[in-house]
Amino acid sequence: MRRKLVAGNWKMNGSLAANAALLADVKADFASEACDVAVCVPAPYLAQCQALLDGSPIALGAQDVSKHEAGAYTGEVSAAMLLEFGCRYVIVGHSERRAAFGESDELVADKAARAIEAGLVPIVCVGETLAQREAGQTDTVIGAQIDVVLHRLLSGTVDRIVVAYEPIWAIGTGKTATPQMAQDVHAMLRKRIQAVDAQAANVVRILYGGSMKPDNAAELMAMPDIDGGLVGGAALKAKDFLAIACDV
Ligand code: G3P
Repeated sequence: MRRKLVAGNWKMNGSLAANAALLADVKADFASEACDVAVCVPAPYLAQCQALLDGSPIALGAQDVSKHEAGAYTGEVSAAMLLEFGCRYVIVGHSERRAAFGESDELVADKAARAIEAGLVPIVCVGETLAQREAGQTDTVIGAQIDVVLHRLLSGTVDRIVVAYEPIWAIGTGKTATPQMAQDVHAMLRKRIQAVDAQAANVVRILYGGSMKPDNAAELMAMPDIDGGLVGGAALKAKDFLAIACDV
């Protein structure tokens, strides 16, 4: 059985004061042994959050990583740096980065490979736009996104990724994919993984992201191929994040 993972993606939100208050509230009422829980925070707050989470079962993650190891890459943050601050996870290929910063499938694959090489767990995001869904292109688009990553990874390392299916039309909109719509895509993703590594297909966790809230999380995560959630807005409210993470 795959252990579920609920990861909060804070995106570009927070402040020293707000982070301290949020994590204090999350830690105070945290009672989840049933699943893994993580928060992916903005890079400047990694040291603060590492200290705040010290001794807690809540893991730390980042929201992006450079494909480069080190050197003259102004503004980039390396995988080794993330590890120094206690990160276990790093999100790669979030649709906001693909759309706003032109990240290609190849760049996302390079970042995932770099993360694995360094010992981080990449949370590889894939997802389709509303226009692509309405044109019946969901499987083609997402299949292509995941295949580039799967073929870039060294043989034997596919089981070290987490995948997050985030339909772009559901992100921050209040619209959620129905559990069955999400399950269909998750099953397709698992088949793609199976095609390159049958053993990895059984262990890779595939999260759903896109307006996941306390009132829809349980039914989404009850689907056989939905192994947790990548939570945006609701991760900024301790009560909602805990309701999702502790209700699994
Ligand atoms: O990565 C999480 C995400 O994009 C979903 O955001 O606010 O719809 O939960 P949200």
